[in-house]
Amino acid sequence: MKNTILITGGTGFIGSHTAVELMQSGWRVIVLDNLCNSEPDVIERIAAIGASRPHFVAGDVRDAALLDQLFASHTITAVMHFAGLKSVGESWQQAAHYLDNNVGGTACLVAAMERAGVRRLVFSSSATVYGEPDTVPIAESAPLRTTNPYGRSKLLCEDMLRQLQAADPRWQVALLRYFNPVGAHASALIGEKPTGVPNNLMPYITQVAAGAHPYLRVFGNDYPTIDGTGVRDYIHVVDLAQGHLAALHYLLEEGRGITANLGTGSGVSVLQLVAAFTQATGVTIPLQILERRPGDVASCFAATEQAWEALRWRAQLSLQAMCADAWRWECSRAAAGASHG
Ligand code: NAD
Ligand code: WQD
Repeated sequence: MKNTILITGGTGFIGSHTAVELMQSGWRVIVLDNLCNSEPDVIERIAAIGASRPHFVAGDVRDAALLDQLFASHTITAVMHFAGLKSVGESWQQAAHYLDNNVGGTACLVAAMERAGVRRLVFSSSATVYGEPDTVPIAESAPLRTTNPYGRSKLLCEDMLRQLQAADPRWQVALLRYFNPVGAHASALIGEKPTGVPNNLMPYITQVAAGAHPYLRVFGNDYPTIDGTGVRDYIHVVDLAQGHLAALHYLLEEGRGITANLGTGSGVSVLQLVAAFTQATGVTIPLQILERRPGDVASCFAATEQAWEALRWRAQLSLQAMCADAWRWECSRAAAGASHG
C-alpha cells in the first residue's frame, strides 16, 4: 500500500507540479481543491504526464465535515497545504475574505488533522512575510513584517502553526517560504494560469511575447539595484516542488518541524530576466519604463544555507530553463486557444 499525501490546492500552479513529483517518487496523492483559481482538467493533465492519477475531491478546506470524511476514508501520512488566495492587490479589496480563506482555512484544516491524529504538515508560506528586508540575502531569522493583507494572512498562519508546535510537540510542520516561483513542467501540460491580466512579471512577459500585450511595463528603474529595476529570486516551479519532497522527508526522518526559504539565492533584476527570456526564446520584449509599483521592495532574494544544511535541497534549474519552460507553456496555451485576461 503506497503512503498517501493530501494536497490541498493541488490543481493550482505549485500544487499540481508537486503532485507530479510526489507521484513520480511513489507517493499516492489525494487532491482537494475548490477550483476557485484552477480547473479540474489539471487532474487529467497530471495523469497524462505519466505520474499516475491523483484522487481528486472538489471541495473547500473550510468544510470540516468533508475533511473528516477524507481523513476517515484514507490513511494519510502528511498534508501539503497549498490552498490559498495569493494576490497582494486583491487582498486590499478583500481583506476579510483573505482572512477567512487563508487563515480560517488553515485553522479548519489543522483542527481536522488533529481530530484524525495526522500531525505532519507542509505549509505554503511566502517571502512576503519578510516585507522590506534590512539586508539581502534574507535568512529565515530575519524580522517578519508584512505590508499587505495577503502577507499578513501568511504570517498569521505561520504564527498559528508555530504556536501549535510549541503547545504540542507531536506536531511537525515545515514552513516553506517561497520566493518567486516561475516556469512550468517541461511537458507543457501544466503551468501557471493567471486569471485576468497577470500581476506577476514572468506570465506578463510570456503574454507580451505571445502578442497579448504590446509591451512590458517596467515598474521603476530608480531602485538602488544593479540596473535600477527590481531584483527578485526567481525559482523554477519544479525545483520548488522538489523542495517539498525534501521537506516531507525531513519531517518523516527527523520528526520535528523546520522553517526554510525555497529560493535560488540569486537576485535577478527585471531587465536581466527580460534579457534571459530573449536569450532563451529568441523573442524580443518591448519595454516601457513607468513609475514604481506601490508596495514593491527594491531587492528580495533568499539565503539558502538552511535549505541545504537541513533539507539537503538546493535549486538546480537555470534561469534559461525557467524562461524556456514558461514560454513553451504559454505557446501550448495559445495553441489551445486560451484567452489572455
Ligand atoms: P494557485 O492559485 O495556482 O493555487 C492555489 C489553489 O488553491 C487553487 O487551485 C485554488 O482553487 C485553491 N484554493 C484556494 N482557496 C481554497 C480553499 N478555500 N479550499 C480549497 N482550495 C482552495 O496558487 P499557487 O501559485 O499554486 O500558490 C499555492 C500556495 O503557495 C498559495 O498558498 C500561495 O499563497 C503560496 N505562494 C505562492 C507564491 C507564488 O508566487 N505563486 C509565492 C509564495 C507563496
Ligand atoms: C517581480 C518584479 C516588479 C510585473 C509577488 C507577491 C509575492 C509572491 C510572489 C505570493 C518586481 C516587476 C512586475 C510587471 C514589472 N506571491 N514587475 N512589471 O511582487 O516580487 O512578488 O509574487 O506569495 O507575495 O508580492 O513578484 O512578479 O509581481 O514582480 O516591472 O508587469 O517585477 O516591480 O520588481 P513580486 P512580481
